[in-house]
Amino acid sequence: MTTARADLFERLAPVWCLDEVGEDLDPFAVFGRTAPLVLDIGIGFGDSLTTAAAADPDVDLIGADVHTPGIASTLARIETMGLTNLRLLHGDALVFLARLAPGMLAGIRIYFPDPWPKVRHRHRRITSAANVDRFVSILRPGGRLHVATDIAEYATATHSICDAHPNLEGGVVERPDWRPVTRYELKGITAGRTAIDLIYRKI
Ligand SMILES: C[S@@+](CC[C@H](N)C(=O)[O-])C[C@H]1O[C@@H](n2cnc3c(N)ncnc32)[C@H](O)[C@@H]1O
Repeated sequence: MTTARADLFERLAPVWCLDEVGEDLDPFAVFGRTAPLVLDIGIGFGDSLTTAAAADPDVDLIGADVHTPGIASTLARIETMGLTNLRLLHGDALVFLARLAPGMLAGIRIYFPDPWPKVRHRHRRITSAANVDRFVSILRPGGRLHVATDIAEYATATHSICDAHPNLEGGVVERPDWRPVTRYELKGITAGRTAIDLIYRKI
């Protein structure tokens, strides 16, 4: 990061970032209101997250990423766009899940997760059966798990895992026009890939 970006990070992270570990999250204390709460895991540079937050002021969002320059870019945009319904987690979303009460979330979004294409690395994928089960427990009934990927095999694997979960129903949907195009998605489009959106509802 440039010095200016590092200074910005130091100034804004304490204001907008949540702790990765700690007490159970109290969304009212964080956002000052009661509203549907959505977790976006792996926000990259946060372009699509900040666009979504601005488009949906009645929803509160938490965007998570381990990548410091991406969090810094997102913090800059939160400030310039004057967003109040967005907080960030600079850390591992899977660790942060321990702060979320069962049934707390209206949605979990995972847009273009790291593909881990090699067979021996696939156990690292964020949509493993064990992780999906944790996501389901934190979703409220009717809450939605939305995964988008442009790797057909990743979509098929996630589809099988979600289909096998007794508390999920859904599958592949047409690309929702409300989902902003992400930076990673754009690279895929340029390379000739097409996004596949999977939306599952907790039953
Ligand atoms: C391929 S990028 C996609 C970023 C963005 N969603 C997009 O479409 O442009 C995947 C992102 O997920 C982040 N990530 C992977 N595992 C994570 C985890 N456990 N917690 C938080 N972020 C994670 C990576 O750091 C990376 O920025």
